[in-house]
Amino acid sequence: MYYALVTGTDHGLGPALVKSLLQRGYYVVACRLNPAEKQIDELLNTYSQNLKIIELDIAKDESVQSMKEKVCTCIPHLDLLINSAGTLGDMDKTLGDDLDFDEMLQVINVNALGALRVTNALVNHVLKSELKTIINISSEAGSIADCQREGWFGYCISKTANNMQSTLVYNNIKKQGGKLIAMHPGHVATYMRGHLDTTASLTPEESASAILHTVLDTDLPTEERPLFIDYRGERLPW
Ligand SMILES: NC(=O)c1ccc[n+]([C@@H]2O[C@H](COP(=O)([O-])OP(=O)(O)OC[C@H]3O[C@@H](n4cnc5c(N)ncnc54)[C@H](OP(=O)(O)O)[C@@H]3O)[C@@H](O)[C@H]2O)c1
Repeated sequence: MYYALVTGTDHGLGPALVKSLLQRGYYVVACRLNPAEKQIDELLNTYSQNLKIIELDIAKDESVQSMKEKVCTCIPHLDLLINSAGTLGDMDKTLGDDLDFDEMLQVINVNALGALRVTNALVNHVLKSELKTIINISSEAGSIADCQREGWFGYCISKTANNMQSTLVYNNIKKQGGKLIAMHPGHVATYMRGHLDTTASLTPEESASAILHTVLDTDLPTEERPLFIDYRGERLPW
């Protein structure tokens, strides 16, 4: 039995990843921010034996600590940790506007530090497992080399920082056989912009299934640096 944990499973990519993993026979811990969001509960009808739902705010140390205690008592190790939770922040303001630095700090706290908090709490559980794999859901928006935007300050900065924490984490775990992938999920039709993004090219289910296929079914190379790839396995520039 393989064990996985996914953050950000209230809606969007997170629950699609959970469903895809359950269909593959994994035992999954689904972490959601808001217990009023019931999408993930529907999966209990079919997968009650293999699904545990835990509340988690990755922006808060005490919430991550409480999640760690629950996880360590309910599963023996963690083969696959997927840090999917994320937030967008302002997309419109550019340098001529009054930038909202408090909001940017919140976005960075979730997108960059949140993933690191969770990994820091669970890394020993990951390294006890067979797959020893961490997927950090990053974004093309985190690429410095490819950046054309003039706005999205909080989001782009936070995803670049997410990529750096991914690299630092990988440098810590690679000697012990740990794997880490910084993953761009594609342009996915979710509610991240506050409404369903109808301009997106992928459904959450298509993105989730492609991500898992790329990471679990193909022979990804092991390198000195973590892989920064998209859902199809194509490399992105750092
Ligand atoms: N959609 C895209 O095109 C796209 C492209 C590139 C990268 N991504 C990345 O893909 C990941 C999933 O995003 P999505 O598109 O599925 O958007 P989404 O539907 O908004 O999902 C994000 C999830 O993260 C949760 N979350 C936000 N803050 C959190 C916190 N402090 N603690 C725990 N959970 C928190 C949200 O919960 P609530 O909604 O209840 O607050 C939601 O369940 C994100 O990391 C995002 O940056 C998405």
